[in-house]
Amino acid sequence: MSTAERLSSFGESVFATWSRVAIENDAINLGQGFPDFAAPDFIKEAAIKAIRDDENQYSRSAGHPKLVEAIAQTFEIETNPLDEVTVTCGSTETIAATILGLVNAGDEVIVIEPFYDSYLACLKMAGANVNIVTLHAPTFTLDETELRNAFSDNTKMIIVNTPHNPTGRVLSKEELGLIAELAIRHDAIVLADEVYDKLVLTGNHIPIATLPNMKERTITLRSLGKVFSVTGWKIGWAVAPPHLTEGIRSAHQFLTFCAATPLQVAAAEALLAPEEYFNSYTAEYTERRDVLVEGLKSAGFQVQSPEGTYFVLADHTPFGFDDDIAFCHHLAKECKVVGIPPTAFYAQSDEGQQYVRFAFCKGVETLKNAVERLQTLRDGVGV
Ligand SMILES: Cc1ncc(COP(=O)(O)O)c(C=O)c1O
Repeated sequence: MSTAERLSSFGESVFATWSRVAIENDAINLGQGFPDFAAPDFIKEAAIKAIRDDENQYSRSAGHPKLVEAIAQTFEIETNPLDEVTVTCGSTETIAATILGLVNAGDEVIVIEPFYDSYLACLKMAGANVNIVTLHAPTFTLDETELRNAFSDNTKMIIVNTPHNPTGRVLSKEELGLIAELAIRHDAIVLADEVYDKLVLTGNHIPIATLPNMKERTITLRSLGKVFSVTGWKIGWAVAPPHLTEGIRSAHQFLTFCAATPLQVAAAEALLAPEEYFNSYTAEYTERRDVLVEGLKSAGFQVQSPEGTYFVLADHTPFGFDDDIAFCHHLAKECKVVGIPPTAFYAQSDEGQQYVRFAFCKGVETLKNAVERLQTLRDGVGV
C-alpha cells in the first residue's frame, strides 16, 4: 500500500512541514499565509445568521445564487452569474477543478516559477506536460524571450499569478500584454490566479481578462479568505466564459459538489461591503509590510518592498548559509522565527536558494517581536 506514483514525488506540503517546525521550536510563524488576527465582525455575524436562517443544506453546485450574483456584480467586466461563475472550496479547488476539467493528458501547460505549490501537483494528476518559465532574481520580471520560446501551438494553458506569491510583484501592463499576445496567437487558455487582487499596496493590478480579446480565453480565480481574513472558510471562485466554465463545473461537481452553504451566504454579503472596508484593509497591510521590510533591512537582509500580496522574499546571503533550507532551520532554532524556504516553489532554477519567504498577515506586535528576534542574526556574521 503506497502513495500513487503521480503524487509520490510531492511529499508533504511545505506549509505543513514548516508550521510543524514552528510549533516544535516555539517560534513565531511567519511561514504559512494565514492571519493571526480576528476576522471582521460583519462577516462572522453574517455566517452565524445564515446558519440560524437554516442555510444549511447543499447549495447549487456551481454556487449559491446570492454569492454568484455578488461575484458578478463586483467583477471588473460584465459577467453572467449563472453561466460564468463557479464557486469552489477555496481557490485551491478552483485550480484543481480548472486543470482536471480542461487539461488532457499530454497537453502542454506553461507555469511561471516561483509558483503556488498546488499547480504542479494538479498538472501531474492531469498528466500534463509542464513548461517552466522563471521570474529571475532579483527583479522577478518576465523575460520576453524566454516566454516567447515557451509557447508553441501545442500550448493549452498558461498559469499566471498576479499579485504574485511569493515575490510580491504585481505584473505590469507590458508583461500582461505580452502574455495576452502570445495566448491569443497560440490559442491558449489563461488561468489567472488573482487571489491577492485586493492586496495591491503599490502600483495597479490589471486583471488580464480585461485586456482586449482576453475574456473569452481567461479563467479568473479569486479567494474570499485573503480579503476577509477567513482563510479557513475555503471559499474561492472562477469567473470564465461558458465554454470554459463547463469543464470547471464538470470536475467541481465530482471533487466537492459545493462549498459550505452558510459561508457562501456570508461571502455574498461581505463582497458588497462598503469601499471603506477595502481601503482600511490595504492601509493596515501597508503598515504591516513596512514594519516587516524595515525590520528585515535593519537585521541585515537584502530586501525589496513587495508591491502586493502579504509576502516578502528576503535575500539571506549576507548571513553565509549554504541554502534556504539550512537558513530556515537556523532561523527556527536560533531566532525562534519561521519562514518558508522558497526552493519549494521552483522546479527548474535554483535561484530560490538565496531567499526566505516571510508572511506579514500577522498583527503588528507579532511582526515587531519577530523583527526583534531577527536582530540577533547580525551577531557573529559581520553584517
Ligand atoms: C497564489 C495562490 N493561489 C491560490 C491560493 C489558494 O487559496 P485558497 O486558500 O482560497 O485555497 C493561495 C493561498 O495561499 C495562493 O497564494
